[in-house]
Amino acid sequence: MKIFSAPLILPLVLLTGYAAKSQTNLPPITLKEAFQNDFVIGAAINASVIWEKNAAEVALVKRQFNSISPENVLKWESVHPEPGIYDFQAADRYVQFGLANKMFIVGHNLIWHHQTPDWVFRDNSGNFVDRNTLLGRMRDHIFTVAGRYRGKINGWDVVNEAVDENGELRDSPWRKIIGDDYIAKAYEFAHEADPQAQLYYNDFDLESRRKQKGAIALIKQLQAQGVKITGVGLQEHDTLKQPSSRRVDQTISTFEKLGLKVMITELDVNVLPSPTKRLDAEVSRNFQSSPKWDPYTNGLPDPVQRQLARRYADLFSVFLKHRECISRVTFWGVTDGDSWLNTYPIRGRTDYPLLFDRAGKGKPAFEAVLKIAQSQKVAANTSREESSAAHY
Ligand code: XIL
Repeated sequence: MKIFSAPLILPLVLLTGYAAKSQTNLPPITLKEAFQNDFVIGAAINASVIWEKNAAEVALVKRQFNSISPENVLKWESVHPEPGIYDFQAADRYVQFGLANKMFIVGHNLIWHHQTPDWVFRDNSGNFVDRNTLLGRMRDHIFTVAGRYRGKINGWDVVNEAVDENGELRDSPWRKIIGDDYIAKAYEFAHEADPQAQLYYNDFDLESRRKQKGAIALIKQLQAQGVKITGVGLQEHDTLKQPSSRRVDQTISTFEKLGLKVMITELDVNVLPSPTKRLDAEVSRNFQSSPKWDPYTNGLPDPVQRQLARRYADLFSVFLKHRECISRVTFWGVTDGDSWLNTYPIRGRTDYPLLFDRAGKGKPAFEAVLKIAQSQKVAANTSREESSAAHY
């Protein structure tokens, strides 16, 4: 009888507490250490972290993460608020922070339909500009911003959220004015501005079938045209149940088959009841506040805390399964207090979507994620030991 077959060993190890005992002898491990052989671990940082307003939070970022994304400071409205006026104060600090701490620095983003001032699309009379004028503005923006950080920012979300829920290209002002090829042009300009930078397509809800199909068609077309595209960013603004980890698994495999790096770029898990069935991150939506939608103002009940930990463990076991193609997993924020989900899609709520609580302490979800990393290592070592034992 084969008692010590590989699938049996892991539960046995966990049951006997062997793994747990050996773990207590290890130094307290951090996220970036736990996944150092798998992928980099990032966090989106806000202005408070960038300007180092809160020393404890800055220390937490440096300790736990080896990649950063700019939550807002590199968006068009932040760096290029008026025609001909660029403001790089916060963006320069952001990049400096990453360089000083030897982090993988992400640029987010160059072309999007949100957080882009209306003047970009209009002439002095308020009418839409023509195709060439907008292409000129796009080129100037991309050259100025991506060019400034050439060799410093490692990868750019070049185009953000260009596909609609129905799988068609979103009818944004970019598309209305330039036409469908605004996307290819954005990648061409970005590649010219910084030939070494990785260039990504980033979107939410890519697990939904129609949207996924649309994104695949778009990427294949770009590839067929010879446009440089290095990777796809799955935002993963998830809830406790949606999308299923199985669907996330399939989605990663599907994009991997296109020969792309896959990145989880904006991970968070919303634990609050949703006023809509749609799972998306459409930032323009906002609903009326009501206590019904904000049930945990005095703290997260234990059962939900445990559910969140399980959800994160499930997601990370999927990410680890795809460690060959996943190059980065980035959380959209550092602590629960920072999260955009406290204001979206309803203002003034108390959400708990991240691994660190409002005081910066690791939650059960943090422990669960570390445990998954450890248990995969125990499993990998065990199967290595077994296969070498088989030689004798
Ligand atoms: C969000 C920021 O977190 C908020 O602070 C801001 O008010 C709106 O944008 N998809 C994206 C991110 O690509 O840029 C969005 O970030 C969240 C959804």
